[in-house]
Formats: sequence, C-alpha cells, structure tokens
Amino acid sequence: MTGASVVGAVVPAAGLGVRLGPGAPKALRGLAGEPLLVHAVRGLRACSQIGTLVVAAPAPDVEDVSRLLAAYDVLVVAGGPQRQDSVRLALAALPEEVDLVLVHDAARCLVPPSVVEAVVEALHAGAAGVVPVLPVSDTVKQVDGTRVVGTLDRAVLRAVQTPQGFRREVLERAHAASCSGATDDAWLVEALGEVVRTVPGDDEAFKITRPLDLVLAEAVLALRVPLEGRHGR
Ligand code: C5P
Repeated sequence: MTGASVVGAVVPAAGLGVRLGPGAPKALRGLAGEPLLVHAVRGLRACSQIGTLVVAAPAPDVEDVSRLLAAYDVLVVAGGPQRQDSVRLALAALPEEVDLVLVHDAARCLVPPSVVEAVVEALHAGAAGVVPVLPVSDTVKQVDGTRVVGTLDRAVLRAVQTPQGFRREVLERAHAASCSGATDDAWLVEALGEVVRTVPGDDEAFKITRPLDLVLAEAVLALRVPLEGRHGR
C-alpha cells in the first residue's frame, strides 16, 4: 500500500440497544453528559489520517444526529434493520477516492486513539483486513441447551474489538457476498478467504451493551486525562 491511500471511516450507530434497557437508541444515550455517539466520533477524529466519516443513524434520527455532530464534519445516513445493513449503507456513502475503511461501532465509544492508529498503520503496511484483539480471560464452553459439549482452548482465542480496518474493495466484496449470522465485518472478509491480521486492542475499547457497561464507562471517563494527552499511549 502506498502513502497515497485515502482513509475513511463508517460508524454503525443505528442499533436500538435493547439489552441496555428502555430508552433512546443506544448511540444517543448519555455518557458523562454527552451521547455515546459524540464520544465515539470524537475518538475517531483524534486520528488525523481519517478523512470522510459516515455515521449510520436510526432512520427517524438522521436530522437530529446531523445537528449533534455538526462540529465533527460527518456525513449521516439512515441505517438498516441489521448491523450489516447499516455498515453497507454507510459504506455506499463514502467518496470514491477512499480506499482504506475503518468500521467502528458507536457502542465502543471510548476506544483510545492508539488502537485506531495501530489499525490504520497495519492497513498501510498492506493488510487486507485488521482487527484489534485482546486475550480471553474466561474459559469458553460450547453448549447444547444447558449441556456442555466442549471446551475451547482459550490460549488460541481472542476477543475482537473495533475499529476493524479493511481495503475498501475487499470489504465491499465481502458485503456483496454477505453471510448470514456474521457478527462482525472481519467474519465476512474471512469468508472470502482473505487474510485478516490482528493488532493489540485495549480494555477501554469495550462495547457498551448492558447497564453495567455504562457505569464502567462513566468511571473510565472520570479517570481519563483529556484526550489530547493520550496520543502517546
Ligand atoms: O447491538 P450491538 O451492540 O452488537 O451493535 C453494535 C453496533 O452496531 C452499535 O454501534 C449499533 O448502534 C450498531 N447497529 C447498527 N444498525 C443496526 C444494529 C446495530 O448500526 N441495525
């Protein structure tokens, strides 16, 4: 990959966040006085290499979200019924010149800039796909109903975060082929037979899914030095 590559990012933020309990769509829930989505977009904007940024918002909220993100030079489109649909719709809105794409869940709104930069760097080094990962600390069982049918060796397992990075052409092919049940974009790319590389993730890039995650996120933010002081992480 040459230095002429143009990096863009898409942020699927159209989920309802049912597991978080009743309330606004997840990306618009408050965290330290601002919606999760604002934290997520600010985190991506801390990486100066990212040019165009497209957010997929819940369809009824597109105008409100555009206003909310007015300071961050973001294009807002309506998302779809599944996460995969939202990513595909946002991807279609990226300008033609973008050839490297980050896909970042709004729900991982505290990802440190060092993780974003590591993903971009691996793409520049030529990877077709890149995912930030952490070791798995729990033992993971395979079950059939309530019966345990197997135990996976956690030494070879990794928990995967976002942003995930891809050569745009590969990601578009992966979404065109699709694959039911895929829970991330790398899965679709793997299904094409393309190699996906890993870079170190970060505990603070956890996904806000359940109410306790919001409590943790508030605590992380309270301890954080201002974002500009974190570039050296
Ligand atoms: O529900 P989950 O936490 O797995 O969603 C991951 C991300 O995908 C969230 O940022 C959510 O807003 C987004 N999403 C979306 N469109 C959907 C469902 C989820 O953009 N239809």
